[in-house]
Amino acid sequence: MHIHRYERIWMTFGLAMLLVFMATIFVAAFADDINPPTGDTTIDPTKVASTPPFDRPGLHKNADGTYDAYYVAQVFQFAPSKLIVPAGSTVHFFVTSSDVVHGFEIAQTDVNVMAIPGWVNDASHTFRKPGTYLLLCNEYCGIGHQNMYGTIEVK
Ligand code: CUA
Repeated sequence: MHIHRYERIWMTFGLAMLLVFMATIFVAAFADDINPPTGDTTIDPTKVASTPPFDRPGLHKNADGTYDAYYVAQVFQFAPSKLIVPAGSTVHFFVTSSDVVHGFEIAQTDVNVMAIPGWVNDASHTFRKPGTYLLLCNEYCGIGHQNMYGTIEVK
């Protein structure tokens, strides 16, 4: 079978690009450890209030100086509604919902996850700048959605 020279060049180019893209995915996954959320952290949404650590939502200090913050979203509030952390702290947020899907977005940061009943989602942020950060629900969750917010005070 005869393949035209230009056809062969384009086929080679296309194949090379395919290999480059595949290599990019493998490098991201294995060298940079960037992976899609596995969603393997589940929780019984009817028993959030009695399931540790969500039975005591709030801030927990880790041995390495970072913090874990456990949040429960429910119509139309976050527990805890207010968090106070020292400036420079790295906070790992763990978020779940005990009723419907909510959003969990901290303005001026890259923290933006969904609070989904049955699942625990997480995100981390280092608060370098002192100030009051607004925590917002950014998924429409009902009649009081616009009143669903909290604050994070960085001192
Ligand atoms: Cu919760 Cu919108």
